[in-house]
Amino acid sequence: MKLVIEPATRPLSGTVTIPGDKSIGHRALLFSLLSATPVRVRGLGGGADNGRSAKAITALGARIERDGDAFVITGTGLDGMRPPGAPIDCGNSGTTIRLLSGLLAGQQFQTTLFGDDSLNKRPMRRVIEPLAQMGAKVTGQGAGVDVMPPLVVGPAHGRLTAIDYTLPMASAQVKTAILLAGLYADGATSVTEPGPSRDHSERMLAYLGAPLVTTGRRTTIDTHGWDRRLAGTDFEVPSDPSSAAFLVVAALVAGADEVRLPNICTNPTRTGFLDVIAAMGGHVLRENVRTTGPEPIADLVIRGKARPLRATEIAGDLAVRSIDELPILAVLAARARGTTVIRDAEELRVKESDRIATTCAMLRAFGVTCEVRPDGFTVEGRDGPLVGAQVHADGDHRIAMAAAVAGLVADDTTVVDDADNVATSYPGFAEAMALLGASIVTR
Ligand code: S3P
Repeated sequence: MKLVIEPATRPLSGTVTIPGDKSIGHRALLFSLLSATPVRVRGLGGGADNGRSAKAITALGARIERDGDAFVITGTGLDGMRPPGAPIDCGNSGTTIRLLSGLLAGQQFQTTLFGDDSLNKRPMRRVIEPLAQMGAKVTGQGAGVDVMPPLVVGPAHGRLTAIDYTLPMASAQVKTAILLAGLYADGATSVTEPGPSRDHSERMLAYLGAPLVTTGRRTTIDTHGWDRRLAGTDFEVPSDPSSAAFLVVAALVAGADEVRLPNICTNPTRTGFLDVIAAMGGHVLRENVRTTGPEPIADLVIRGKARPLRATEIAGDLAVRSIDELPILAVLAARARGTTVIRDAEELRVKESDRIATTCAMLRAFGVTCEVRPDGFTVEGRDGPLVGAQVHADGDHRIAMAAAVAGLVADDTTVVDDADNVATSYPGFAEAMALLGASIVTR
C-alpha cells in the first residue's frame, strides 16, 4: 500500500476520534483472559496488533463477544487456560509476543509463539533471561548476539521462583512479562527499571485486584496469602496518544483553525511528546481533563497558524517517555530553528525497524540534514519547505505516518510506499488526515 500526500494549502480543521490505545488494548485483552469475571471492554482500537492479542486469548480459552460498541471478554481465570493446539501468530506485535512469554511461562503446557519477518528479527533475550531465572523454560532461535522468535514457552512444572530483577533497559514489555510470570511464582517478584517506561500494566493489574505495589521505579507482585483471583467489570480504553501525536504534529506544522482530539490517554509515561512540543514553543491545550478507570485522559486541542518552533534536546527520562513518538518529533524538529539532538534512545534500534536509521533516511529523502548517532540522531531545522519525497517506510507504521505528515509541508507530492503496516496501530490514519483537510490518498 502507498500513501500519496499533497502539500497542505490551508490550515487543518476538525474533530477526530483516535482509535483506542494500542498498549492499553493489549493489556485489556491479555489481562481479561486472567479475570475470574467477564470484563466489558469499550474503545478497543481495531488495529492488527491488538487483533493478534485477541486471537491469542481465544486460542487460550477466552470468549470474546460483541455487545453494542463493547466487547465482553470471558476469561479463564489464572489457572484455567487451555493449551492452544497450534503455534500462536503474533504478527508484527512485540507487545503480544513479549507479554505472552511472561503469561505463558508459568503454565503447565507448552506454547510456540512466532511473528512476521520484522518480529522474527527482534531481540527476545531480554525476556528469556529473567524468565529463565524464575525457572521457566523459554527457548528461541539463534545463539549469537540475541535470541529471536519463534519462541517455545513452558511447560512449567509447578510454581515459578520469585526474583528481584533490575531491568538493563527501560522496557514496559519486559517489565510486564516479569510481573505476569510473577503471578505464577511463590512470594514476592520485584522489577526495578532504569527509566519511566509506560505503567499501564501496573495500573490495570492493581485495578483488577492483583497484589501489586509500586514504589518509585520498583514494582512488586507478592502472591503470598493471595486468593489468586483477578476480577474486572467495565473497562474503557482511552484514545491512543502515540497515534494522536501524528495529527498533533500535522496541525502544528500545517497550522490549524481548530483540531480537536477527544479522550486521549494523558498518562505521564506517554506524554513526553507533549513536553517536547512545549519545550519547542508549541501549544497543545488539554481540555476536559478527567480519568477513566485507572488512566487519566483529556481532549487535545491545537489552534493557530504554523509558526517556527525552536530546536530542543530530547534525552534521559524524556527520551523514554517519548520513545514511540521520536520519528514524528523528528519531523517537527525539521521545521524548527536550530539543531535538535536526540540522545539516550538506543532502544529505537530494536523497534519495528531500526528507527535511528529509518527516521534519518526518511528525513533525508525530504532534503533534511539528519545525522545518525549511536544512541539517537540530530536534525537540522530547515527554513523553507521540505522537498517532496519518495519514501520507503521499511514496513514500519510510525515511519510511514511520520513521512505522510512531513509531506504536508513539502514543495511537491510525497509518495510513501511499504505503508501497509499503518494498520497495525492506526487503521483509518489516512481518512483522519483527510477529514482534517489534508490531501492524502491510499493506493
Ligand atoms: C510497549 C512498550 C514499548 C513501546 C511499544 C509498546 C508496550 O516497547 O515502544 O510500542 O505496550 O508495552 P519496549 O517495552 O520495548 O520499550
